[in-house]
Amino acid sequence: MNTKDPFLMGYSATAVAHPNIAFIKYWGNRDESLNLPSNGSISMNLGDLRAQTKVTFSSELSEDVLSINHIIAGHNAHQRMSAILDNIRQKAKISLYARVESILNFPTGTGIASSAAGFAALAKAAVHAAGLDFNEIEISRLARLGSGSACRSVPGGFVEWQKGESDNTSYATSIFSAEHWDLYDVIIVLQKTPKKVGSKAGHILANTSPLQASRVQDSSRRLEICRKAIKERDFSSLANIIELDSNMMHAITMTSNPPLLYWEAGSLELMHAVPKWRTEGLHVAYTIDAGPNVHLICQPEDVNEIKKRATALVNPQEILLSTIGGPAYIVRTK
Ligand code: DP6
Repeated sequence: MNTKDPFLMGYSATAVAHPNIAFIKYWGNRDESLNLPSNGSISMNLGDLRAQTKVTFSSELSEDVLSINHIIAGHNAHQRMSAILDNIRQKAKISLYARVESILNFPTGTGIASSAAGFAALAKAAVHAAGLDFNEIEISRLARLGSGSACRSVPGGFVEWQKGESDNTSYATSIFSAEHWDLYDVIIVLQKTPKKVGSKAGHILANTSPLQASRVQDSSRRLEICRKAIKERDFSSLANIIELDSNMMHAITMTSNPPLLYWEAGSLELMHAVPKWRTEGLHVAYTIDAGPNVHLICQPEDVNEIKKRATALVNPQEILLSTIGGPAYIVRTK
């Protein structure tokens, strides 16, 4: 890792990152402050959804400032941002505060990993703006400090986050490129309002569930099945493992103390329908993050039929569509 003179490199950079949808989910930490997860996870980046984040280190600022879609962010997001910026300041040996402006083209706080995309873009842009010559693994580790799943939005395509032993060894890498398999995510938005209990609080509660230890213990087996299904482009095997993994994560949330019930009636209707649609020949599987919205992972030829059926079944507030996407990238430096 080289430290270059930030005066020569310029103090501002803008990066784009995509959110990701987990096939094998991250739920629970071994270390809350470093976001060291209890289990490894696998996800796919969502190329049509974007967070664009500009970071400017400036001597005119007396504190870090974060805005998301032009609105000044709250304490929680601010603290997570500072964890990344403090780390960068220390490594680049600069003491300047930063203005961070993030613009998203999809709804935030609804279980559509907006923080993953936002913190991945922030880490990528801030490293560049500070003139640090970090590789993808180092940027992934940094993004993890803002939001665990953000480390998976730094590399492209199908991505695996190794739980690792420590801060140094817990990061994500691409296991297959976006070109490997043309999958889509049809996101059935049942609720646009921010969720009541965010993932951060959910991770803290995970260990209060008597089921978490078995879920974690079984995770290497699920990761292996998922990797193999992606490698062989075996949709049926992928569908079975991602639905099982989603159900297992929600079994933890429901049996935590206090319990977290993320599903709404529409989520359950889709969970009943989707396996049936598969028996009728559609290549589709459901997975649900920490919110009621349902991600329908599918092959391109089935996208229109799936949208039609989901609309008739649950009358969603909105449907978002995304193909698989690439890594975080720099769009502008100044
Ligand atoms: C359910 O702590 O990374 O999406 O709340 O977006 O910061 P944010 O999430 P994070 O937890 C993500 C949990 C999950 C599962 C997953 O993406 O693996």
